[in-house]
Amino acid sequence: MSLLTVTDLTVSAGPRELVHGVSFDLGPGERLGLVGESGSGKSLTAMAIVGLLAPGLTAGGSVLLDGQQMVGQPDRDLVPLRGAVAAVVFQDSRAALDPLMRLGDQLAAPIRRRAAREGRALSAADLRAEQIRWLDRVAIPEPERILKSWPYEVSGGQRQRIAIAMALACGPRLLIADEPTTALDVSTQAEVLDLLDSLVRDAGLSLLFISHDLPVVSRVADRVIVMRQGRAVEEGATARVFTDPQNPYTQGLVAAARRLESALETPA
Ligand SMILES: Nc1ncnc2c1ncn2[C@@H]1O[C@H](COP(=O)(O)OP(=O)(O)O)[C@@H](O)[C@H]1O
Ligand SMILES: [Mg+2]
Repeated sequence: MSLLTVTDLTVSAGPRELVHGVSFDLGPGERLGLVGESGSGKSLTAMAIVGLLAPGLTAGGSVLLDGQQMVGQPDRDLVPLRGAVAAVVFQDSRAALDPLMRLGDQLAAPIRRRAAREGRALSAADLRAEQIRWLDRVAIPEPERILKSWPYEVSGGQRQRIAIAMALACGPRLLIADEPTTALDVSTQAEVLDLLDSLVRDAGLSLLFISHDLPVVSRVADRVIVMRQGRAVEEGATARVFTDPQNPYTQGLVAAARRLESALETPA
């Protein structure tokens, strides 16, 4: 059974439709990429899936997340699913992290929520051990110091690692990563991408990975959907889309990625 089934999803701002009938599904452990230029509707699609559209935006069609309809439901019905079924990592870790709260306290919140959900008692020592284990998993050194730090005291790459730890500490079955490495410099980008890749693989999670960057998506996704102007214009296995793109827009994306690749490979 699918973990996520999206059928004819639309997102509108008043009378203006921004996402025009997107459909796909995602099974347990599958890794799907959403790729397309800025403004093509990728983030709106992701936010509609978890019922987190900005005020003034409305979704239509159907999103079944673990069998629960997400479209048109009151927020109180969706809250239990966020984190527990699907968790999101955003492009800008500043959106996930509260600037006025120490990192340890922020990481404690999803750990406590999960323990409560699973009916586990969590002593102060248990909590501390779990915080440190999560920082270790996302390869953050000096965990004791980091737990006492404020968000502005750590690097952008470390903030994004902590945001990933917070998303995974919720214990989701689906991770939605919306441009998770776009705000990072190139070498940090590659490290965070590898980390995300191995964490998702080890936990057997489903992944919806969103990026404007086709080569980045192709590193982590088995299947991709190409979006343009609010529509899915192509869908297929990543390798096939890369080697044999059918849609003219996808052909342009692939050609641009290949030009960049060969420019980087050719010594100046
Ligand atoms: N709150 C909003 N109100 C009106 N239009 C919006 C809103 N959010 C996004 N849009 C528009 O919807 C389109 C798709 O946005 P988005 O999904 O964020 O694109 P992407 O993530 O692919 O870059 C864009 O044209 C954007 O300007
Ligand atoms: Mg976006």
